Amino acid sequence: MTRVAIVTGGTRGIGRAICEALKADGFTVVANYAGNEEKARAFSAETGIAAYRWDVGDHEASIAGCAKVEAEVGPIDALVNNAGITRDGVLHKMSFEDWNEVMRINLGGCFNMAKACFPGMRERKWGRIVNIGSINGQAGQYGQVNYAAAKSGIHGFTKALAQEGARAGVTVNAIAPGYIDTDMVAAVPEPVLEKIVAKIPVGRLGHAYEIARGVSFLCSEDGGFITGSTMSINGGQHMY
Ligand code: CAA
Repeated sequence: MTRVAIVTGGTRGIGRAICEALKADGFTVVANYAGNEEKARAFSAETGIAAYRWDVGDHEASIAGCAKVEAEVGPIDALVNNAGITRDGVLHKMSFEDWNEVMRINLGGCFNMAKACFPGMRERKWGRIVNIGSINGQAGQYGQVNYAAAKSGIHGFTKALAQEGARAGVTVNAIAPGYIDTDMVAAVPEPVLEKIVAKIPVGRLGHAYEIARGVSFLCSEDGGFITGSTMSINGGQHMY
């Protein structure tokens, strides 16, 4: 019987690469997505991976969505909390809504999805949770108090839940990507991005598959002794 993995925000960018890597490594993969129907349909047609729509920032929707996946596909063995948004802006121009939406989706989404998946993993004595943090949650970033706080929160959430899962065979880890060549990073104004890339020792943006390979390893049997850790994949931009 193959294990089931769910990847939030799984139809585009880093999430899509994670779905493909987990599938290649033998998981039955399900992608969650929030809004872009057209991209989701294309994703399923191209990869053969089912996509389920709900907002991970919505607690009830996450519980119901995971119950539907479990009824239709099987118990969820691996959860990758990848869904995230940016609402960049300096604090004095940032609205409460921009703060709250980033906290609700990026950090709240991890809680909602873990609430849905972690109890079953504990009962079955096997599970993998990988939370996608960020270099900007480790080091901070001008114009991102909301995003940096949410991503930093993800790193704390990871270490706390790892302690709760360890005896039950559930590992909980984080990956902290640096700047990866996705739509999210493409939205950074070009002159700003040029300055950021100039500070990456490897001299380029990362690729989504470079994050995905890390996730896939943490989800494998061989990852069983790694828990509560943060794997930084950032081209040397922040050595933590
Ligand atoms: N440190 C110090 N000063 C900075 C700075 C920095 N890092 N970045 C900008 N400034 C300064 C500018 O030089 C400018 O100063 P002057 O007015 O004296 O020239 C001032 O701050 C205002 O800068 P902007 O013109 O850029 O201000 P803005 O209000 O138009 O935009 C911003 C602000 C939206 C934050 C914009 O700078 C920006 O988008 N920055 C990039 C933020 C970023 O890196 N986001 C990452 C998104 S990808 C991601 O998050 C994925 C991941 O996990 C890595």
